[in-house]
Amino acid sequence: KMRSKIVAGNWKMNKNSAETEALLTELAAKLPDTQAEVMVAPTFVNLQSAVKQLESSTIEVIAQNMHFGESGAYTGEISADMLLDIGIDTVIIGHSERRAYFGETDEILAKKVKTALKKNMRVMFCFGEELDDRKSENHFNVVETQLKNALFSLDASAWTSIILAYEPVWAIGTGETASPEQAQEMHAFIRKTITDAYDTSIATNVSILYGGSVKPANAEEIFSKPDVDGGLIGGASLVADDFVAIIEAI
Ligand code: G3H
Repeated sequence: KMRSKIVAGNWKMNKNSAETEALLTELAAKLPDTQAEVMVAPTFVNLQSAVKQLESSTIEVIAQNMHFGESGAYTGEISADMLLDIGIDTVIIGHSERRAYFGETDEILAKKVKTALKKNMRVMFCFGEELDDRKSENHFNVVETQLKNALFSLDASAWTSIILAYEPVWAIGTGETASPEQAQEMHAFIRKTITDAYDTSIATNVSILYGGSVKPANAEEIFSKPDVDGGLIGGASLVADDFVAIIEAI
């Protein structure tokens, strides 16, 4: 199977329940015919209603995060089973904001990935270098280390449940995108790294999304690159017409 194209909207800490319902209504109505899988990640408190609302839509509701523990004394946290229970089987893990503001290390992320896969969930694993890493030309090393620490001890068979999202931190919410060439260069590097750690078939079949200031105006050029399989969209996913335009660009 050729790898899937995916456009996912990460709503981060935005939209109350009424706004969530309104945006989903508009999205579902305007959703274009597309070969891409379309996903949205509203905030936890609105996940259950979002799943219900989109029951008859092809739009998939996914979670922005989860805990590595199965259950128990983890105040404020959400488990894989809780997500599965409300009909969610895909989870974003390792977003740069979780790493930067909530102390999520590679070690913690490896545990989260392991738990999600054990529960038969699909993982959208995010990673990417910071500006200083790129300035010092250390970006390839940083990305390779992030992948290695969280993913490369997985069995080969686990990779059918992995989606990768390369998000250079300097391009997130800044209006500054990686150029399509920079994105392609890194995505090709990621596939080569996976080929070295596993084999070509795993590297060829995994979907690699780009994230970081993707907008209607730049989506088509980024998505046209051979190793870019779609996008993880922040700000532009909060406006139905913009998100729809980005889906149309794939
Ligand atoms: O998860 C999404 C990314 O952090 C990108 O966010 O499109 O607002 O730059 P952005």
